[in-house]
Amino acid sequence: MGQAKTILMLAGDGIGPEAMRQVRRVMDWLEQRRGLSFAVTEGLVGGIAIDREGTPLSDATLEAAKSADAVLLGAVGGPQWDNVDFAIRPEAGLLRLRKELGLFANLRPAMVLDALIDASTLKPEIVRSLNIMIVRELTGGVYFGEPRGITDLGDGEKRGVNTQVYTSSEIRRVARVAFELARKRQNRLCSVEKANVMESGRLWRAEVTSLHQADFADVALSHMYADNCAMQLVRNPRQFDVIVTDNLFGDMLSDEAAMLTGSLGMLPSASLGATRPDGSRPAMYEPVHGSAPDIAGQDKANPIATLFSFTMMLRYSFDLGDEAERIEKAAVRVLDGGRRTADIMAPGLTEVSTTGMGDAILGELDASLA
Ligand code: IPM
Ligand code: MG
Repeated sequence: MGQAKTILMLAGDGIGPEAMRQVRRVMDWLEQRRGLSFAVTEGLVGGIAIDREGTPLSDATLEAAKSADAVLLGAVGGPQWDNVDFAIRPEAGLLRLRKELGLFANLRPAMVLDALIDASTLKPEIVRSLNIMIVRELTGGVYFGEPRGITDLGDGEKRGVNTQVYTSSEIRRVARVAFELARKRQNRLCSVEKANVMESGRLWRAEVTSLHQADFADVALSHMYADNCAMQLVRNPRQFDVIVTDNLFGDMLSDEAAMLTGSLGMLPSASLGATRPDGSRPAMYEPVHGSAPDIAGQDKANPIATLFSFTMMLRYSFDLGDEAERIEKAAVRVLDGGRRTADIMAPGLTEVSTTGMGDAILGELDASLA
């Protein structure tokens, strides 16, 4: 490989740093054993950045994120920061990164590995081999819409406002990502909104339909109301291949889809921006799980979601799909062999720590070269 790929690591809060340490070991392994080279820098985000820099995302860290080839983020937030000013809460750092990097397409895969089929709260026959991809719009909608705020109406009465808003181009660019992904999978896309109630949903459906007719007529497109989608996801999740939806519905439906797998500690995500003329695109990768303050610092967390976020980076940012697959297979072999972190532990298997999981995966990686 030519020039070193630059990666900004933002470990953040809670279990973020300990999960990230195991990923760092895998990066080192790729450098030593696979001849790759990564230029890794670290920065602060979330609560730790509030404590040390007075803001959940400093301008300097934002600039570093913009100039890196890709960002790997751990997790943000924790009870220590529950009472900080709303404008500088840990989550604000994450939202600023998404917005400023223009990461409009958030890819959240949810799949059920055979080894973990009993981790799901759903019956095995409902979730066996489940493999869905939720594409969530990430820089628009009610998360960023104006006007927003709380106004005082007097006499103890207040009014809280947020605005759900989408433009044609915002809808079309994320739908395009979803259609393209569908083509590489089972060629089916389900677009989700509330066109029966919301104007932004009506526009969403119209734009997705017109893009389909213009450029993606070969993809099987369906539309679904968000409430029905929430229901269908638990009734018969395998009916879905790719789902595309707005920021808020995507937030909720991706948590629901994640829980179908029963193992939040396994699920990665990728957030992508627009492709630049030179073919590169802004990108940030992060696990779907949060900072899990209850187990932070105890070497108990499952590092696989963060590791799989890194393998998504290898695939989507660095075109290193083969190396991504090698790492994912190593992790799956560890699970098949019955070694589990506490979150996915089952009777009769061997519980390992965060570090122990890293050791086991590195062992399987070594074995893959033998
Ligand atoms: C997510 C999270 C964030 C969101 C929070 C932490 C701001 O729930 O990435 O899904 O709501 O987008
Ligand atoms: Mg969420």
